Amino acid sequence: MHKWTKSNKQQTHTQHLLRTGNMSASIALTILRLKNFQVILHRSYSVRRTVKEILNVSLHAEKKPVTSAGWLRHVRKQKNVVFCSLYDGSTDKHLQVVADPQICHEELCTGCSVEVGGSLVPSQGRGQAVELQADHLSIVGPCDNEVYPIKPKTEYTADQLRAFPHLRARTILHQKLLRIRSTASMAVHKYFLDNHFLFVHTPITTSVDCEGAGETFSIKTGEELKPGAGGRDGPGHFFNSPTYLTVSGQLHLEVITGSFLKAYSFGPTFRAEKSLGRHHLAEFYMIEAEVAFTQSMECILQVMEGLVKSMTQSVLDSHEGEVEDLWKHSQVSDQSDIVNRLLNKTYIRMSYSDAIKILENKKDNFKESPKWGCDLSKEHEKFLVKHCGNVPVFVTDFPTEIKPFYCRQNEDHATVGAVDLLVPGVGELCGGSLREERHDILRPRLDNLGLTQPYHWYLELRQFGSVPHGGFGLGFERYLQCLLGIHNIKDTIPFPRWVQHCPL
Ligand code: 4AD
Ligand code: MG
Repeated sequence: MHKWTKSNKQQTHTQHLLRTGNMSASIALTILRLKNFQVILHRSYSVRRTVKEILNVSLHAEKKPVTSAGWLRHVRKQKNVVFCSLYDGSTDKHLQVVADPQICHEELCTGCSVEVGGSLVPSQGRGQAVELQADHLSIVGPCDNEVYPIKPKTEYTADQLRAFPHLRARTILHQKLLRIRSTASMAVHKYFLDNHFLFVHTPITTSVDCEGAGETFSIKTGEELKPGAGGRDGPGHFFNSPTYLTVSGQLHLEVITGSFLKAYSFGPTFRAEKSLGRHHLAEFYMIEAEVAFTQSMECILQVMEGLVKSMTQSVLDSHEGEVEDLWKHSQVSDQSDIVNRLLNKTYIRMSYSDAIKILENKKDNFKESPKWGCDLSKEHEKFLVKHCGNVPVFVTDFPTEIKPFYCRQNEDHATVGAVDLLVPGVGELCGGSLREERHDILRPRLDNLGLTQPYHWYLELRQFGSVPHGGFGLGFERYLQCLLGIHNIKDTIPFPRWVQHCPL
């Protein structure tokens, strides 16, 4: 019997008595608390440490007994000794646990969750400075290796692992990705905090399709609302009018920059694009920033460039080794050069019209012919980045017709102050613009689109203390793809969603 199973059983018995009413609730609860207390007492003779803390050299000097908990990556059983490698997600390193077979349960194997206690000693083996000489090692949750799909020392392709979204986070590669993703997220907040932006939670449910591209997911309740209960638009609409999952928080951020100089948001975004492509998700994270009192596109470009460089520096500072491991795995031969340019080069600025001229000169290279007035396709974007020596490139001033209604009209009346940031391996990473702050120009545009009524509040922002402003959105998963050389965007997010795929 494992130690933990035993105490768990005792608790279960007490809980059973409680449930069946065979014991008064207060006595049972007291006993339950006492038993938990015993468990805590039992553990408290030594301090519970993460693997990262244990491997931190300064801790070894303490010479205290330690306990740790995690999962077993490998188990090697010999006649007189058992070696286990323990991980807990805190670091990409494993803690080598060395135990006498006598204290090991026969079910101890790869994939088990365990609690272990003992003392740290200098390691005999290669690859680690210390190991944990166990004096107790108990299974918290066994793992049936006959059916456990993740076999030790086996390389799985990204495609294979996507079939196990509930187990993928246990693999070495995906653990690295998740740690880097977490650090990059924190770096976003640090960058904006350092640059005096306000963090805003823009809503996930909204009644506006900001981009107007018709890629919204509609929100419906499970039950039909009865007339009268559902409001003026009749049954079915919980919020009285059709609502969607947000495609962008930009318009809400613009509300906030009606009274704050700079604001940003970082949250989930949804697009019902039926794309199976390797750069598209149905649910992704977007970082959006908005700056008031600027009529300068350059000001917006500098925030974008600063953000990308700052995130990249933070990730490299904290995870250099892990990033390199992912690069090796990516099989992009010059990934470190790509990231070097992302970090150290001044990004190139180029107008859409100049970009089209470059593409037209090379039109035989493309499936889709480049043409002024049409959007850039993925192959055009990637070509332009290569043409610029794999340095990220800002393409600015797009034709009015291919950009959303909110972009600021340029003096030529043919283009708007919009920008896409194109990066190696991915193409478009950011989309942004100066916003049309002039009521007399915005109003007829909305009239033509039949949007004046739903966007009356947006027009009012232009009537009451309007200021020139602009901003952008950066696709967080595309950023990770570019940084880490990950082929498919579905492998940059813990739970990818795409058309006909939302398994958990
Ligand atoms: O270019 P987009 O559509 O811009 C906007 O939504 C603006 N309202 C943002 C703003 O100005 N505040 O989207 C911004 C970025 C894209 O450049 C791309 O990186 C990412 O979001 N993106 C996607 N990422 C993954 N899957 C998808 N389906 C994506 N669609 C856009
Ligand atoms: Mg875009």
